[in-house]
Amino acid sequence: MATPSMLLVSLLAFFCSPLLSSSSSDGLWAGSSLSVEKTGDVLTSSGGIFSAGFHPVGVNAYSFAIWFNTPSCRAVANNCTIVWMANRDEPVNGRRTRLCLLKSGNLVLKDAGQIHVWETKTVSKSVTNLTLDDGGNLILRDLQGHILWQSYHSPTDTLLPLQPFNENSKLISSRSQGNYSSGYFQLYFSADNVLCLMYKGPEYSSVYWPSPARLRWEAGRSTYNNSKIAVLDSLGNFSSTDNFSFLSADYGSKVSRMLKMDFDGNIRLYSLKEDGESWVVSWQAFPQPCKVHGCCGPNSVCIYTPNLGRKCYCIPGYKMKNHSDWSLGCEPEFHLSCNQTEQVGFLKLRHVEFYGYDFGMYPNVNLKDCAKMCWQMCDCKGFQFRFGKAHQSAGLYCYLKSQLLNGQRPNFGGDFYLKVPKAIVTFYSSTTVEDSKLQCSNEVQTLEPMYSTSSKRRENDPLDFARWAACAAGGIEFLAIFLVWCFMIRTHGDSSAKASHLLATTGFRNFTYAELKKATNSFSQEIGRGAGGMVFKATLSDGRVAAIKRLVDAYQGEAEFLAEVNTIGKLNHMNLITMWGYCAEGKHRLLVYEYMEHGSLAENLSFKALDWKKRLDIAVGTARGLAYLHEECLEWVLHCDIKPHNILIDSNFQPKVSDFGLSWMLNRGDVKHSQVSRIRGTRGYMAPEWVSNLPITSKVDVYSYGVVLLELVTGRSPGMGFPGTDDGSPKEQTLVVWVREQMASARETETWKHEMIDPKLEGIYDEAEMLNLVSVALQCVAEDKDARPTMGEVVEMLIRSESH
Ligand SMILES: *[C@@H]1O[C@H](CO)[C@@H](O)[C@H](O)[C@H]1NC(C)=O
Ligand SMILES: *[C@@H]1O[C@H](CO)[C@@H](O)[C@H](O)[C@H]1NC(C)=O
Ligand SMILES: *[C@@H]1O[C@H](CO)[C@@H](O)[C@H](O)[C@H]1NC(C)=O
Ligand SMILES: *[C@@H]1O[C@H](CO)[C@@H](O)[C@H](O)[C@H]1NC(C)=O
Ligand SMILES: *[C@@H]1O[C@H](CO)[C@@H](O)[C@H](O)[C@H]1NC(C)=O
Ligand SMILES: *[C@@H]1O[C@H](CO)[C@@H](O)[C@H](O)[C@H]1NC(C)=O
Ligand SMILES: *[C@@H]1O[C@H](CO)[C@@H](O)[C@H](O)[C@H]1NC(C)=O
Ligand SMILES: *[C@@H]1O[C@H](CO)[C@@H](O)[C@H](O)[C@H]1NC(C)=O
Ligand SMILES: *[C@@H]1O[C@H](CO)[C@@H](O)[C@H](O)[C@H]1NC(C)=O
Ligand SMILES: *[C@@H]1O[C@H](CO)[C@@H](O)[C@H](O)[C@H]1NC(C)=O
Repeated sequence: MATPSMLLVSLLAFFCSPLLSSSSSDGLWAGSSLSVEKTGDVLTSSGGIFSAGFHPVGVNAYSFAIWFNTPSCRAVANNCTIVWMANRDEPVNGRRTRLCLLKSGNLVLKDAGQIHVWETKTVSKSVTNLTLDDGGNLILRDLQGHILWQSYHSPTDTLLPLQPFNENSKLISSRSQGNYSSGYFQLYFSADNVLCLMYKGPEYSSVYWPSPARLRWEAGRSTYNNSKIAVLDSLGNFSSTDNFSFLSADYGSKVSRMLKMDFDGNIRLYSLKEDGESWVVSWQAFPQPCKVHGCCGPNSVCIYTPNLGRKCYCIPGYKMKNHSDWSLGCEPEFHLSCNQTEQVGFLKLRHVEFYGYDFGMYPNVNLKDCAKMCWQMCDCKGFQFRFGKAHQSAGLYCYLKSQLLNGQRPNFGGDFYLKVPKAIVTFYSSTTVEDSKLQCSNEVQTLEPMYSTSSKRRENDPLDFARWAACAAGGIEFLAIFLVWCFMIRTHGDSSAKASHLLATTGFRNFTYAELKKATNSFSQEIGRGAGGMVFKATLSDGRVAAIKRLVDAYQGEAEFLAEVNTIGKLNHMNLITMWGYCAEGKHRLLVYEYMEHGSLAENLSFKALDWKKRLDIAVGTARGLAYLHEECLEWVLHCDIKPHNILIDSNFQPKVSDFGLSWMLNRGDVKHSQVSRIRGTRGYMAPEWVSNLPITSKVDVYSYGVVLLELVTGRSPGMGFPGTDDGSPKEQTLVVWVREQMASARETETWKHEMIDPKLEGIYDEAEMLNLVSVALQCVAEDKDARPTMGEVVEMLIRSESH
């Protein structure tokens, strides 16, 4: 019955013809197609902002994609900024592949073998054309102008301005840099109406944003609005119905932007730079990329350093499962049998933390009992032991782990004790390497395996695990090691945080000299003077009050200066002063800091307002800030000039360390090579190494910090003369020697405490805390640098005493 013409019509419904003229690139008509083989077969939005076409994703592998036309790029060169992909997980062949708009209304991607790799599954008798608009939305319309399908409703990993994100949307990261197939990180609305980030890997999944350690409302999220809509407006304001919102760092300017679920698990807002040549990050969810779950796979630890970015490391006794893929993590190189408990030992991984997968949390358990529980439990892989607060009560907590996932080394998270065969414990304990020889330098080159056991443990070390564990095992010997764990392998490719990224997100910027001159009213209000130059008060054009340091001795070149300043600008800790920017113009070198209106510890030590509790807070906060600077084993910044003048105080009496990193900017030449030709620091606070020929390590800061502690307790400045004790006549003596003598005489006399404590405290202080502070201080000022604790250990000693 069918006439030939009817047959032809029905055939046309299923076949498509090539787009006849490649110049009609502004729309795809029903019955026509785009071919992978013709470079001109590209749809371009009317304003030329976006294009859609075939984009290579590998060798002879293509995806149908939408991309930005600026920064200028070429699809064939595979360097365009892709915002959407039809077939990211099923690339098509580079020959005979077509995107066809069938007359039946279906838009299909046909591979060489006529296989429908992807389709919109739309049906319409009156489909007209497929067009790309200037918002980057690919739209399929019918004759009446109704939208049958649009790419905005099926985002890939990118959300464009005004593109609605709702309950049905998901941004899924790409697999890795350069591999666009679906990765493991997702942005989505959870069932309780909250915008979340989740790691969904092959073996486990875990929500990591908002922080799983906090309740929704604590994270500022609301669970009550079930409309689940989020949108980025054209000015850079992102807002979601769960009350999450942020403004782009360049809010207000009309530039191209995109919110991207990056392959490293962070979501970032990118803005096109004014020159149109590159993208800068104008917001990101995590400044600390190791908070992303799953980024390193099981049995590994994520460590972030500003210089190297994010790196993954296998824990001792484990090896990488697949050398080309960290998401698979590491696997044990040993087998532990459950009936061979005597073969088991524990390795301490300092400050390492694994999130989740607890058998349970046990409060107020000592290290001995915690180890014993794990030891007896066959499936216990190790335990987290730390000081913490839960349910209103602070104390020591023991967490037994069934799996070692989401490992990271936060600033302080207690320690992790890894269960491994004794042979491994022995192996690690015998591989002793000298202290890192880094010399006041930011060069982190110790990238070979480096272990160091602190063999010089003090006898009274309260965490003497060897003894405790031996008791636990009831005669069965435990080998226990205090392992300073620091296993460095340089692995490229995962350092997501490029310098410019963080700069944009933290608002860190380049100021012009004229701008700063204006802000300081021609450098009229001097508020300080110290290492490197004078400090002036300033009001920036956006109203923020700043402290501007004008370096006088910065002879280094601009590139070197920028490198330093960028590293320092990336350091971010609540106990470090924040640097907002810098100026490097001609001979001028200026640093712009947040302004602390309450001045420094030096000024405030003479006030009664600084009661005992506040002094203790200042001691702990300063130690935390320094510990962050030293970052175990890396020593990425040595301060080299710790003193009360460089410890600023905020309105809550929390300390913020300032002037860190200056030693590089002023004396780079000296410190880069291990000879330190010029002595730095301030008399009274300087470690003996400075005047002897010994290497300069982070222990110089520990020494200076110890002197500051003594000053906090005694209220005496180290420069003052002290009465000698031998013949009673006043004589030149240091604060350190004086306190040592006071402590030595403590057993004989009872008056020494009154003599030593700052009279401004009027006798109101906690004696046990005072003794602990002095004891920590005296360890810090040990003549032998190896006998001094690290700043991390100092923090622990201080907070442990606080808990009692
Ligand atoms: C696509 O079709 C719509 C509706 O028929 C029409 O308004 C529009 O101009 C067409 N687009 C192009 C680029 O021709
Ligand atoms: C991208 O990663 C996937 C998953 O690992 C892999 O199957 C695919 O071959 C990779 N593609 C390219 C182009 O490397
Ligand atoms: C992409 O490659 C082309 C030529 O190969 C070049 O002109 C263009 O600048 C590149 N774009 C980017 C963003 O790298
Ligand atoms: C939303 O956030 C604002 C401040 O960011 C807060 O004042 C408000 O109470 C929040 N609303 C809800 C419903 O949580
Ligand atoms: C939910 O959010 C939408 C969009 O912001 C708003 O119009 C609506 O009133 C909100 N509903 C509730 C119950 O807060
Ligand atoms: C951002 O958008 C939200 C929702 O439209 C609005 O409530 C808020 O005031 C906006 N913020 C700014 C700074 O414009
Ligand atoms: C490692 O992963 C890559 C990509 O996922 C895969 O091609 C390769 O076969 C894997 N190697 C091993 C040893 O499993
Ligand atoms: C441990 O138990 C396994 C089976 O449960 C047994 O095969 C093995 O011989 C036992 N090993 C020892 C040392 O008892
Ligand atoms: C900073 O600004 C100055 C002056 O405007 C300019 O010469 C310099 O290139 C800028 N530096 C950077 C790193 O942007
Ligand atoms: C610290 O001293 C300064 C200057 O003497 C004073 O202005 C400031 O209020 C003091 N800080 C605090 C927190 O009391």
